[in-house]
Amino acid sequence: MLSVHGLNQFYGESHTLWDVDLEVPEGGCVCLMGRNGVGKTTLLKTVMGLLPVRSGSIRFGGTELVGRAAELRARLGIGYVPQGRDIFPRLTVEENLQVGLGIGSDRAVLERIFDLFPVLKQMLKRRGGDLSGGQQQQLAIGRALTLKPRLLILDEPTEGIQPNIVREIGDIIRRLNREERLTVLLVEQKLPFARRVGEHFLLLDRGRCVAGDVMSELSDSLVQRYLSV
Ligand SMILES: Nc1ncnc2c1ncn2[C@@H]1O[C@H](COP(=O)(O)OP(=O)(O)OP(=O)(O)O)[C@@H](O)[C@H]1O
Ligand SMILES: [Mg+2]
Repeated sequence: MLSVHGLNQFYGESHTLWDVDLEVPEGGCVCLMGRNGVGKTTLLKTVMGLLPVRSGSIRFGGTELVGRAAELRARLGIGYVPQGRDIFPRLTVEENLQVGLGIGSDRAVLERIFDLFPVLKQMLKRRGGDLSGGQQQQLAIGRALTLKPRLLILDEPTEGIQPNIVREIGDIIRRLNREERLTVLLVEQKLPFARRVGEHFLLLDRGRCVAGDVMSELSDSLVQRYLSV
């Protein structure tokens, strides 16, 4: 569904992604992994059209995305939850969700989001900034779902969140992927979470893909070499 080939990205003179290949099959759940600063967020932002591409291709379905406006991603069905869950802190939960829904809001979509995240329904009038970290993450995921994406991209959805909510978010991503067949690409550093949620992994090291396979093949030696700190 998403195919990245030979992707090179630069921040000014700094070559950050080197010939990166990434394949996310329809219905799959791919976990992008690697230590801090290896380029995981850069890769997602590049896919989302938020950073310029030096060379390479990014195809979604049959459409080449390189050189196309960032907004095209949402229209084609790519939902994105950036690192650090950027919700609107001064808007209420309800208003945050409406930003995604736009005009002609779709009640069924909202009900589905409340079914996944009952806490959001209880806190509709609460300001985003007053929610806990875990609740903000749920709101950020909920907002991405208002666009009814076919592919959901999440950047470290469990960063800085209490363990019980981490578990809940893992359950929800699994449910979206396994039961509702939503295709998922996520960045995750927590190994147990990645193993439980991901079907495939792709390991990055200093901007290069160094390994990728089904999750069961993520060996201790790979973990030692590319993930342990
Ligand atoms: N806006 C920027 N300008 C210049 N260099 C940047 C910029 N953003 C990130 N970098 C650099 O690019 C490299 C990759 O950063 P990136 O944020 O993609 O890593 P990451 O794998 O997502 O790390 P983390 O696990 O900490 O989120 C790092 O060396 C970082 O310092
Ligand atoms: Mg990052």
